[in-house]
Parts: sequence; structure tokens; C-alpha cells
Amino acid sequence: MGLCKVSGRVDRILFNIFLVLVAQSAIWQYNSPGLQLVVAAGGGSWEVVVRNAGIASMHTAVTHFGNVVLLDRTNIGPSLLPLPNGICRDNHRDQASKHDCTAHSALYTPGTNEVRPLFIFTDTWCSSGQFRADGTLVQTGGNLDGFSKIRTFTPCASGEDCNWVETETNLQQGRWYASNQQLPDGTAIVVGGRGAFTAEFVPANGRGQYHLPLLTETNDAQNDNFYPFVHLLPNNRLYIFANRDSILYNWEQQITLKRLPTIPGGPRNYPSAGSSVMLPLSAADDWATAEILICGGSEFGAFMDPRARLPASQTCGRILPLAANPEWAMENMPMRRNMGDMILLPTRQVLIINGAENGSQGWGFASNAVLNPVLYNPALAPGTRFDTLTATNIARVYHSTANLLPDGRILVAGSNSHEFYTFSPMFPTELRIEAFSPPYLAAGARPAIVAVPGALGYGQNFVVEVEYAAVPRGDIELNLLTAPYVTHSYAQGQRLLQLGVGAPVRTAAGGYAIATRAPPSAVILPAGYAMLFAVANGVPSEAAWVHVT
Ligand SMILES: *[C@@H]1O[C@H](CO)[C@@H](O)[C@H](O)[C@H]1NC(C)=O
Repeated sequence: MGLCKVSGRVDRILFNIFLVLVAQSAIWQYNSPGLQLVVAAGGGSWEVVVRNAGIASMHTAVTHFGNVVLLDRTNIGPSLLPLPNGICRDNHRDQASKHDCTAHSALYTPGTNEVRPLFIFTDTWCSSGQFRADGTLVQTGGNLDGFSKIRTFTPCASGEDCNWVETETNLQQGRWYASNQQLPDGTAIVVGGRGAFTAEFVPANGRGQYHLPLLTETNDAQNDNFYPFVHLLPNNRLYIFANRDSILYNWEQQITLKRLPTIPGGPRNYPSAGSSVMLPLSAADDWATAEILICGGSEFGAFMDPRARLPASQTCGRILPLAANPEWAMENMPMRRNMGDMILLPTRQVLIINGAENGSQGWGFASNAVLNPVLYNPALAPGTRFDTLTATNIARVYHSTANLLPDGRILVAGSNSHEFYTFSPMFPTELRIEAFSPPYLAAGARPAIVAVPGALGYGQNFVVEVEYAAVPRGDIELNLLTAPYVTHSYAQGQRLLQLGVGAPVRTAAGGYAIATRAPPSAVILPAGYAMLFAVANGVPSEAAWVHVT
């Protein structure tokens, strides 16, 4: 949690921080590894890929060069990653360190595991972002001197020299804890934030900022509506969820079209973070069916009384927002979880990973890290959808992230439950980066994409050539995934499209040729780079990046 400038609740929040600090020596024992929740289970494997990244990544995004932008906040004092060549950051508006020779962003390269420091000037704390059509990461807001900033990072191959750029254009309203979603018109909508009950567009293209009654109405005593869940639906409306409520929103006319039913259970957004995905869209029904899944969260009150260590939510809710009368279908996860990340896998399953069993978001507000990821199979019958997977031994609580890599692994970074870099026993600032290999990477031969056009137009027919050592039992799936901006347990802009495929045809070279078609429009997939995976017998290939415009 942050020390906010605007909230009338700051006194109580500060008092709670005080209580937590006083109580910390007693509480930390609850967080010793022996009392973390580990369920005996199988499936998947963990590897520490970087022992000391030097920064704890609060925001993480995979670029179309396959390297990964790690981004912490600047206003956090020195990190353990020096800036190169004697470069320092002299920012008189930084409250923690006005002369700072350490990096707060870095570029990580999977495989070589190199971490290259990046330079960022203004505070990016609790910011938001999206990749735009040309592959540039557009990152918005933050705190203090970064509150209204718009920054860009135009990615490059590892070994080249790309870096952050602070643009001259500002947000119309400062935004801290907002969510972004790339839109069919090539701009991103930026929704909400602390004390910001509006949406705006980046670039604005003449538009202003627009009041969102949902955000005002869901602003409860804990402000449980930061980092709202925002999904672009296949009818070009937005699904926006905050706290326990959601709407259909016409972004072109800035009109709330419909209020959906309240989800059962407690709040689901920061500081009571659950997470959310839109389940895969499919060519099989002409992209018509959109279904939203929200899992976990905290009990109301957990943030206001962090000493209580209230139990996290164990429920997930599923809803069809475009149905005539949408209703929540509820189900139970194998264990309670808040601050979980939900990641769409190339196999059209959902991985729920990271988080804790008690408390809420906020510095030192959680206990009982959940070390087991769970796999959710949306296509199976209720009651059979969850598998508990192999545990890590590294707690990933507040300010941790998870991202799908093009090689099919999940990159797990960050976790900092403290105001500064603090290596005390209670969930120390976590500088290790791990990769989790889901069970599909140990499930037999992997297909390999050997030929695919790199650039695709909407609706374009094309052929993908796949090498595969076994005979596929059914069709070889071709699934397209965007690279989201992941922070605070929510992957902004994440979507999975299951393309329509012809039957695999043997090629002279001994592989398979699969006829398919690019997504029909920017509503189904806003222009940009995406990862194309071939999936055979439940095993995904490595991704090929395609540029769809
Ligand atoms: C955490 O939540 C569990 C329920 O899942 C509860 O039994 C326990 O008392 C809570 N508090 C702590 C500190 O573990």
C-alpha cells in the first residue's frame, strides 16, 4: 500500500502501518517457511534463473524480442543493480534518494539470463501499461513526480541499446493504480486509479476524461476498486470490474451500457486483490463467446485490520457478460488465495500462481504465502477443473509478477512487502527470478513452428508449418497470445485467441502444414505483436512472434 496524498483515510492507514510495525516481531514467525502453505502435489517444476536481479520487479512485460522489461518504482531508495558507466539519477523530487546510482528497471533475457540495467527518471510506482501496435511499451502514471507521466520503451534485441523515454505529453489526470487496455483504434484506455474515478485515452486524440460511475459507487471504506479488471469483449465493448461489481462499457461513446450482478464473496480488486482473465476466444464460434473468470481476493476488512490476518477468498466466479441475463457461476479453488496472478497458457488453461492465504495487499499485510500454483481447466466439468501443481520454496506476495515466456515457461519475479529494499525475515524483498515449467513441458515431444509469415493482416489466410515427432491425435491447435503488462496480480491486456485450423497435412519435409486464418479484426485482436503457439497432444511449441495489423 502507498502513503497517499489525497485519501481521507490516510490517518487510519498510517496507524495501521504503525500497528503492523509494532506487531511485526511477533507476526514474522507466522511467515517462516515452515508455516507457509504447501500442498503435497505434483506437476511442473521450478528453477531459479537469476540469483540476484538487483531489483524486485513490480511490473513485468515480455517484448516481441523475447526479452523482458522488469520495472520497480524509483522512489524506493537504492536497488542492488548499479547503473552502468557511472551514470546516476539526480532527481530532486525523489523522496527516497535524490542522488541515486542504481537502476529501477532492467531488461532480462531468458536463456542467457542476463540482466541489463535500464534508466528511468520519474516514479513508476503502481503504474499501468500496454504494448501499442508497433511493439512499443507505453507505460502510464505512477506516484509523485511520475503521477501524470507517459513513458515509452521501444524494445530491441538483447545486446542492443534501447531504453526508457519520458514523453512530453502528460496524462489528463494523475493515475496511481490504474489499468490499461489496448483498443481497436490503436489507443489505450486508462481506467481509474486512486482518487481517479474516470477513464481517459492514450494518446487522447482529442478526447477528454470521462467519469465512470462504477468507480465512484464501488469506492468502499478500503478503496477496493484500484487496478480494475478491464477486458475488451468481441462485440467491441469493455467489461470493467471493480470491487464486486462490473459493467459493460461503450468506450467509443463513453457510456455505461449495463450493470452486471454483484459477485458473491468479498472484494476482488486492490487492496483485496483477486485476479481475472477473459477465457480464450475461439474462431470455432466465430469469436462470439466471451467469458470472464475472477479468482481469489481478500475478506473485506483485511486491509483495515491487517493484524487480523483475515482468510483470503477461496472462490472463483465465471460470468458470460454478453448473455441476456448474466449470472455468476461460483466454484472453489483447492486453497484460499489473494494476490494470485492468473496467466493464460498456450493450452487454453489458466495458471493461478503467487499470493498468500491470509491478509491483503499492503506492506506486511499478508501471511501464509501460497507456494503451489494451480491449473484451471475451463473446458472440464465443474468440480474437476483444478489441479494443484508443484510448490516453489520462494514466497511471492505483494508486488510480485508472473508472465508467460515465448518458450512456454512462466517467469516469476518480484515480491516486496516493504517500503524499501528490506532483507528481514518477514517476506524479504525478493531479488531472485524463477521460471516455472508447467506440466505440459514434461508431457512428451514438443511441436516446433518452422515456418510462419511474420506479418499478418486481419482475416488473412496463411499456412503454418510445424515439425512434430509424433502423429497428432487430433488437430494441431494454433493459439495466439498477447504479451500483457503484469502488475498487482493482474495481467493488463492479456488475451488468447484459438485460431481455426485445417487438418494437419504431411509435408514432403516430414512435418505438418496447417491452414489457418488471422483474427478478423482489431476488435478481436488490437494491432500489435502476439505469440503464436502450435499445440499438439496437449504440448505447446515455442512461440513464433507474429505482427498482426
Ligand atoms: C489464516 O486463514 C486461515 C483460514 O484459511 C485461518 O484458519 C487462520 O487463523 C488465519 N490466520 C493466520 C495467521 O494464519
